[in-house]
Amino acid sequence: MEKLIDQHNRIHNYLRISLTDSCNFRCAYCMPNEEIECLPNSKLMSTLEIEQIAKTFVDLGVKKIRLTGGEPLVRKEFPDIVQRLSKLPVELTMTTNGVLVHKHLQLFKDAGIRSLNVSLDTLNPETFFKLTKRNQFQQVWDNILLLLEHGFRVKVNAVALNGIIEDELLDFVRITEKLPLHVRFIEFMPFSGNHWKSEKVITAKQMLEVVQAEMEVVKLQDQVHDTAKKYKVVGYEGTFAFITTMSEHFCGDCNRMRITADGKMKNCLFGKEEMDLLGTLRKGEDILPLIRLSIFRKHAMLGGQFSPDYLKAEADKIENRSMIKIGG
Ligand code: GTP
Ligand code: 5AD
Ligand code: SF4
Repeated sequence: MEKLIDQHNRIHNYLRISLTDSCNFRCAYCMPNEEIECLPNSKLMSTLEIEQIAKTFVDLGVKKIRLTGGEPLVRKEFPDIVQRLSKLPVELTMTTNGVLVHKHLQLFKDAGIRSLNVSLDTLNPETFFKLTKRNQFQQVWDNILLLLEHGFRVKVNAVALNGIIEDELLDFVRITEKLPLHVRFIEFMPFSGNHWKSEKVITAKQMLEVVQAEMEVVKLQDQVHDTAKKYKVVGYEGTFAFITTMSEHFCGDCNRMRITADGKMKNCLFGKEEMDLLGTLRKGEDILPLIRLSIFRKHAMLGGQFSPDYLKAEADKIENRSMIKIGG
């Protein structure tokens, strides 16, 4: 079948599927309103619908599927979903807050999952509690170590939050000294309700300067579709990297598509247009034309929502879901 190539000549072969919009943590920058209403089960894609939609995308050339949330591991059908998706000829992977990982290690192995991205914005248990409203730092940290012990490749996603990262940047880099971890600092991005302001963004350049002042740093080669720009401290086991959406977008090589937990296709993290794949599927109609239309309409960068001077974007004018309703 013809591949998913957009008007900017980008081949789309990486699909992010959100399994749920629920989470067992309460990070304000992701879930702005604690009372936020979660989707009722009837509005979520069922296991079979996820499988069917994923198969359609695989026929269209998808080579990598990342499961996201909310927190994907709180979805009670998670084991069944993973088992089914593991039969597809794709690299299967996941972004998780890590707290339930120890319960699923064997499942991950059986499903051929080799790498996981674990979100962790602080190494300080008290700050962790303030951010997540949960006292689970130790469990997340133990689970990161457990994943490493079991041979998984682990990337740690740390959103560079002002007031936190200034104190912790070097600590995060130092954990890569003895551990083969890949820490990625993510520039804070605007989503509905997360009170983003350009002044809150700490850029990759600013962070790199701090690290370089203390440590001997080398640049590593990035892969073509990487979100992150990778570095290493000489002699350290692991690496660190920056996801520079706000200071230097990487849309030119974008190969990503997203399905929200309620079965809407988003052609970009910041794209406001959504295609109702699940509704179409439930009407017994073909989802292929909608998928192609979504790709055809994809904007060159950042969902077409930002001005060229986008670090000064006015967050309130950007129409998008909150992060928990997208899946990252
Ligand atoms: P790898 O496949 O391991 O490179 O992970 P990833 O970076 O694709 O996914 P992950 O879920 O770990 O996301 C890390 C950060 O990158 C999150 O803040 C995401 O929102 C952001 N991110 C992921 N994909 C995109 C994208 O297509 N565009 C932008 N701007 N940010 C993205
Ligand atoms: N800016 C940058 N990254 C974010 N994430 C969630 N919200 C934001 C934001 N506003 C990260 C999560 C997770 C990944 C999917 O996206 O921490 O690691
Ligand atoms: Fe792709 Fe949109 Fe992300 Fe840019 S912001 S890399 S176009 S998904």
